[in-house]
Amino acid sequence: MAAPHRFTEQLIAWQKVAGRHDLPWQNTRDPYRIWLSEIMLQQTQVGTVIPYYQRFLDRFPSVTALAEAPLAAVIEHWAGLGYYARARNLHKCAQQVASRYGGQFPASAELLAELPGIGRSTAAAVAAFAFGQRAAILDGNVKRVLCRQFGIEGFPGQAAIHRQLWDLAESLLPAGDIEPYTQGLMDLGATLCTRSRPRCAECPVAAGCIARRDGRQGALPASKPRTAVPERTSTFVLISDGARLLLERRPPSGLWGGLLVPPEGEPAVVLSRLGLSLLAEQPLPAFKHTFTHFRLTLQPVLCRVAPSGRGDEPGLEWVAVERAADAGVPAPIRKLIRQVASVTG
Ligand code: ADE
Repeated sequence: MAAPHRFTEQLIAWQKVAGRHDLPWQNTRDPYRIWLSEIMLQQTQVGTVIPYYQRFLDRFPSVTALAEAPLAAVIEHWAGLGYYARARNLHKCAQQVASRYGGQFPASAELLAELPGIGRSTAAAVAAFAFGQRAAILDGNVKRVLCRQFGIEGFPGQAAIHRQLWDLAESLLPAGDIEPYTQGLMDLGATLCTRSRPRCAECPVAAGCIARRDGRQGALPASKPRTAVPERTSTFVLISDGARLLLERRPPSGLWGGLLVPPEGEPAVVLSRLGLSLLAEQPLPAFKHTFTHFRLTLQPVLCRVAPSGRGDEPGLEWVAVERAADAGVPAPIRKLIRQVASVTG
């Protein structure tokens, strides 16, 4: 095997003395715990993930416990983390590990990557941390580190650049020490080689860094060629009978699939569909939420309705106003319900 790259050696040495060693998913070889952390960390920062991770493990202590739980319970423990396809795939993946592999995660990146929600990079991270397998990761942070270190121009999302980055990531792998190397890449990207204001003075690989040499840290990696983000506006009807809010379970797929959300649509239409009669209507301040592929303006309207026996159909739930924010609703809806609680409280 060729001599290890300087980058690789320096990164490993740095991780061992200056990297992170006490995150809740470190110091274990339990593939379940490692897999769960990697899925949660796919689009969410460490500080946000930690409390969710602990609660999730308390409720679902093993992959078989997760496989046997109802999807609704899984979604409920995920609520607030966003990107709910991750929670649905997580559940599906647990069921496949249980049914195909008797509850034991397969010990290779290739087999892991066949499971729902596990892409090539996540498979490699789990294979490295749980099984010590020599496999290359390439998430957003690692792309940034490599583009800067090796002066790779062009948008990393473009197919040719993406292939080049994967080849590079593979070529840099050490013969041993895959765990500190993999963690080192993550640590460097998260703590020093940050998107804005990278701390190059502290960087273990600054001496070989092309972006630093050329003062192009701000230009690399190249950003996505800009296309306009679609904008949508949607009205959410916060139906209150005085003490409770009416929430509706969304269909399993699509935006916020499976979560509880106030009914969406024109108030008059929504109330007539639900057979409720309006006592008073009050628009609340609109606010924006940015999703991956579009920006949504949420226009909340608080509707006080007459008490009635309606709203007990399947898919509808009356929830006490003070409990509603924690009833397994998406983060922007939580914000909205808090507004209502302050208005009605
Ligand atoms: N981001 C993705 N995987 C991670 C890990 N294992 N530790 C810290 N941050 C991460």
